[in-house]
Amino acid sequence: MATNGDHGGPHRPARRRALERLAAGAIAALLPAARAAAPTMPADLCATPARFDVPLPVPGREGLLGRLAVGGQAITLSATARAGGEPRLAYVARAEGRDYLNPTLVARTGARVRIRLANRTTEPTVTHWHGFTIDTANDGNGESLVPAEAAFEYAFTVRNRAGLYWYHPHPHGTTASQVQRGLLGLFAVEDDDEQALRRALAIVPGDTEIPLILHDRRSAAPGAYNPSARDLLRGWYGDEALVNFTPRPYLDVAARRYRLRVLNGSNARIFRLGFARDDGGPVPFLLIGTDGGLLERPVSVSELFLAPAERVDLLVDFTGLAVGGYALLESRAFDPMHAEVSPGQGAEGSADAATHGMPTASGDAMATSHSDGAAFALLQFRVRERGEPAPAVPDRLSTLPRFPESTGDDRPLRLGFAKRRWRINDLVYDVGATPAVVVRNAVETWLIRNYHTSMPHAMHLHGFQFRVLERETSPDQLAPLAVDARGRLATDLGLKDTVLVWPGESVRIAIDFRHPFPGPQVYLFHCHNLEHEDGGMMLRVKVG
Ligand code: C2O
Ligand code: CU
Ligand code: CU
Repeated sequence: MATNGDHGGPHRPARRRALERLAAGAIAALLPAARAAAPTMPADLCATPARFDVPLPVPGREGLLGRLAVGGQAITLSATARAGGEPRLAYVARAEGRDYLNPTLVARTGARVRIRLANRTTEPTVTHWHGFTIDTANDGNGESLVPAEAAFEYAFTVRNRAGLYWYHPHPHGTTASQVQRGLLGLFAVEDDDEQALRRALAIVPGDTEIPLILHDRRSAAPGAYNPSARDLLRGWYGDEALVNFTPRPYLDVAARRYRLRVLNGSNARIFRLGFARDDGGPVPFLLIGTDGGLLERPVSVSELFLAPAERVDLLVDFTGLAVGGYALLESRAFDPMHAEVSPGQGAEGSADAATHGMPTASGDAMATSHSDGAAFALLQFRVRERGEPAPAVPDRLSTLPRFPESTGDDRPLRLGFAKRRWRINDLVYDVGATPAVVVRNAVETWLIRNYHTSMPHAMHLHGFQFRVLERETSPDQLAPLAVDARGRLATDLGLKDTVLVWPGESVRIAIDFRHPFPGPQVYLFHCHNLEHEDGGMMLRVKVG
């Protein structure tokens, strides 16, 4: 049973058996039928195939997610459709004799980057550098496209502080389809703070620092993106979780501290992330960074919500685990607050009802029985050896840039639904309109308000990192996670480019619109639920 190091024989404590059922049902747990069957599963899982049986791909010097330095040398990313396997659609690169699939691009702050996007697919695409301080011409916002078999040369300076950013397609209307099929990668920006932290914690990328890209797929038709009307309303959800494009992944670890840098790369799914361990003990974990890099100080958390496009930088300590034991990264149950589809709520309700009794696209039956907000496990950490005692985590991690005071009134942004479209300030995306005009160098506060009869929206701004100032009238399930009197969550700290706004909630953010680019620049503000984005829940913001 070489792959079953997690099975401890017949005398396991109840908690451990429960965890094994969770692990075994990790994938199936999203299906009500499978969940109902779980209690009758044999107690000894050695009799059934191990469920976490695929090694997690960890970025190395080549291959899937391999680390590829982009400061200095020009590289080519070829968007390519693949015959089989995950990802179905990928950025392929070749440099110095090595091949990469969705490479993890690595550059230092200040580096000059030249990237050629070659479109080897049969559909138009364009690549956006999510989280980057960048000019419109290089932003890849979808307002100009790279046709099939054509190419585009990006050239820009990396101006962001160290952090885990990412890149993905942004062709308006087909972003969701291309991202869902796997076209995305990470962009790690590094600087001296970053190097100092790794030295202090004896953390090595690819060994004890592991990026995790979370998303989901439909097991009946992997690689097929056929959204139903309901999917377009709520977002596209799968029934099977993937980590680094891999279902049922495990990672062999030592009983020591690890740094996990997590991206929610799914179209619509929100994760409520936490860790569990086989003996029921706690798994201490620290949040040390968010979208725009390190926090000033580590924050101890027991769980956190991660919306599409958000990133978190975690330190998790497996020191207390026995060799032969395991821990799980799990998404815990939560109320997904789909208030938009409650029956009898007008347009929303009827849009949803309209999809019932209609022939559904392949995989849709599963999608409609999926549970957004269901509990499932994502990744198993198998403790294979003892580890070095953990060095103390420095109390001070970095210094955040000082933020000037806002110079005017709040800019109101209301999220809502009307005439079958998700809207911002009652508007849908129009390439010819500029509903928000910002004075260059202004510092603005934006008050993003989501209606009660809505669903959570992951709001993202191109071109600028922002600070979350406060949350008001948050749903009850957020209350235990608040870290200050302003209702902020640990994941609101630091520099952000994406913030989740729950139904009935108001979130106030501050944005410093100083930018070094000549002339006016146009950026996008949109929901990063990709079905909502493609459906037009997006506004143009001109910084003049
Ligand atoms: Cu990550 Cu406009 O996108
Ligand atoms: Cu972006
Ligand atoms: Cu949305």
